[in-house]
Amino acid sequence: MAAVRARYNDLANYKWEDNWHRYTGIEIQRQITQFCYSQIQPQRVVLNAGAGDTKLDLVADLIVNLDISEARVSRQQTPLIASVEAVPLSDETVDTVICVGSVINYCDAASAISEFARILRPNGHFLLEFESSRSAELRTQAAFGRSAAVADTFYGKEPEAIWVYSPEFIKHLLEAAHLCIQRQVAIHILSPWALLLCRSTSTAATLARFDPWARRVPSLTRWASNHLYVCRKV
Ligand SMILES: C[S@@+](CC[C@H](N)C(=O)[O-])C[C@H]1O[C@@H](n2cnc3c(N)ncnc32)[C@H](O)[C@@H]1O
Repeated sequence: MAAVRARYNDLANYKWEDNWHRYTGIEIQRQITQFCYSQIQPQRVVLNAGAGDTKLDLVADLIVNLDISEARVSRQQTPLIASVEAVPLSDETVDTVICVGSVINYCDAASAISEFARILRPNGHFLLEFESSRSAELRTQAAFGRSAAVADTFYGKEPEAIWVYSPEFIKHLLEAAHLCIQRQVAIHILSPWALLLCRSTSTAATLARFDPWARRVPSLTRWASNHLYVCRKV
């Protein structure tokens, strides 16, 4: 965790966003906006877990922005410097937890999910986005298809090693935490195949425009790079 914190505290890192991650960010925000508009109850407290310095467009009375990187989160309103593995909030005090931008790919997903379930009010919502070990991009790596393993990937022009998780593993953790999946969205469905074959991230990223079509074919979404789940605490 100290290495991740140091990397994110250096504001020179992650400055240049490539087309692949730009598309991921836009799609995540689109799903969050859709979620916010679908809510009948006003959202009092929202936790943006692993917020970094990204300002998500959210509707709530209070948005708590939690991150281990004080350099990034201090740029946000209501910053909270802490780890998602030990959230310093009381039980059942949050209406919605949003954990996107592959935050759980940097830490222990089991501890983080159990913490989110603990602080959520009954019927509260949890929006989770993560990078999958079943991504076609990883087919040549030992991590491919594993429940949890470290894989080599990229951000901008830099290599990046992160934890990747199989969708089945994450679903088991959610089920154990009484978080019921209500909606699933696959992101980067055809692009990881292109990345596997041509190794050019910008060429591969152009195929993401076919995601809305590819989502209609469940067998294709199995190999997507990213998954976003909207869950409800039952
Ligand atoms: C790729 S950035 C995503 C930022 C933001 N959520 C977004 O969507 O743009 C990952 C963030 O997770 C944070 N992070 C990594 N491990 C963490 C942990 N154990 N607890 C809290 N934040 C963590 C990093 O400091 C970084 O700000």
